[in-house]
Amino acid sequence: MVKVIIGNDHSSVEVKNRLVRWLVSQGFEVTNAGVDTEESIDYPDIAEKACRDFLKGDYDFGILLCGTGIGISISANKIKGIRCALIHDSFCARMAKKHNNANFIAFGGRVTYNEPIESMITTFHTAVFEGGRHRQRVEKMDRLGERGC
Ligand code: RB5
Repeated sequence: MVKVIIGNDHSSVEVKNRLVRWLVSQGFEVTNAGVDTEESIDYPDIAEKACRDFLKGDYDFGILLCGTGIGISISANKIKGIRCALIHDSFCARMAKKHNNANFIAFGGRVTYNEPIESMITTFHTAVFEGGRHRQRVEKMDRLGERGC
């Protein structure tokens, strides 16, 4: 079973709930590392929790949501071992896997997209990392985190 962890702040509870229902209906096993109320919370705390749980568990990928996806993706990318891609369309979703081998994708609960988030998740999940020259680049990205640049 494909294991997914999802984290969200107060801005994206409804979208999170919709995505969880959809992911479960697609056969994914989903862990909710986000909040379920609209009480204000700081998105770096959610990013940290979801990413730390991801690194401890045997998850296939993670999904992060805040109002725009920006703050939570920036936060996630501070954590060693996390490559979080902020996604706007299926092209970015596909490339996030094929070239960047992202292990998290982020969306904004307050953003209006031209495509359903569900389609972008499917595109990301079914794409395959190309390796080759992209592996070298991904390894360089990871080393930036390790050196604490
Ligand atoms: C919260 O109001 C909002 O700032 C947050 O969800 C996110 O959009 C930040 O990047």
